[in-house]
Amino acid sequence: MQPLQVKYYNWSGSKEAYGKSPHLRKLTYFIACSVDGFIADVHGDATAMYAYVDEEFLDFLKTDHPETMPTHGRRALGLDDLENKRFDTVIQGRASYDVALKEGVTSPYAHLRQYVASRTLGESPSPDVEIIADGLLDKVRELKAEDGGLDIYLCGGSRVAGELFDEIDELVIKTYPIVYGTGMPMFGAAFDVARFSFGGVRSFGNGAVVRTYGRER
Ligand SMILES: NC(=O)c1ccc[n+]([C@@H]2O[C@H](COP(=O)([O-])OP(=O)(O)OC[C@H]3O[C@@H](n4cnc5c(N)ncnc54)[C@H](OP(=O)(O)O)[C@@H]3O)[C@@H](O)[C@H]2O)c1
Repeated sequence: MQPLQVKYYNWSGSKEAYGKSPHLRKLTYFIACSVDGFIADVHGDATAMYAYVDEEFLDFLKTDHPETMPTHGRRALGLDDLENKRFDTVIQGRASYDVALKEGVTSPYAHLRQYVASRTLGESPSPDVEIIADGLLDKVRELKAEDGGLDIYLCGGSRVAGELFDEIDELVIKTYPIVYGTGMPMFGAAFDVARFSFGGVRSFGNGAVVRTYGRER
C-alpha cells in the first residue's frame, strides 16, 4: 500500500488564487496552530511551535512567505533583503504586538505597513506602526479597497482574528504536530458557520502541514 503522504498537492500560494473579489486586496489569516487548533497556550505562549521552523520550513517561508518573518528574525538570518511576495501590510492585535515589545522590538515588520489594534496603547512606540484605536473593521475594509498593491497579512491573535472574521478572505494554517489540550483558539469570538474551499496543502519532513483555504462568498 502507498503511504498516505502528499508532498505537494495543488499548492497554491499565488495572489490570484481564489476567494477574492478582483477589486479587493485579500485579508489572509496566516497562522501557526497546534493539531488541536490552538495558536498558543493559555498564557499566550506560542514558543513550543518555533522548533518546527527547521531548514526545510525556513526555505518554504523564504520562498513563499518571506514577509511573514519578523524583521529582527530576518536580520539574524542574513535575510534582510527578501522581497515581499504576498503581502505589503500587516495587522495585529496589541497582545500579539506585545510579544515583540517585550523583546524590545517596536517595529517587528519594518518591511510592511504595520497596523496594531489597541484602545490602550495611545501613542505608537514606533513611527513605523499605526495604532488603530477606533473603527478597526472600517479601517480593514478601507485597506482592502485600496487600489493595487499586495494582500494584507492578518498576523493574529485570537481576539482580533475573531473580530475580523467576516473580512477574512483566506486562511493559511501552519499546523505543527503538537497538542496543547487547551489554549488560545484560532478565533476568539463566536460567529456563524462559514464555508471555505480547500486551496492546497504542503507537508514537511518534521510533520508540519500548511493548508490554504479560500473564503466562499
Ligand atoms: N500562533 C501564531 O502564529 C500566533 C500569531 C500571532 C499571535 N499569537 C499569539 O496570540 C497571542 C495574543 O492573542 P490575543 O487573542 O490574546 O490578543 P490579540 O488579538 O493579539 O490582541 C488583542 C488586543 O487587541 C486590541 N483590540 C482588539 N479588538 C480591537 C478593536 N476592535 N479595536 C481596537 N483594538 C482592539 C485590544 O488591545 P488593548 O487591550 O490595548 O485595547 C485587545 O486587548 C499572543 O500571546 C501570541 O503568542 C500566535
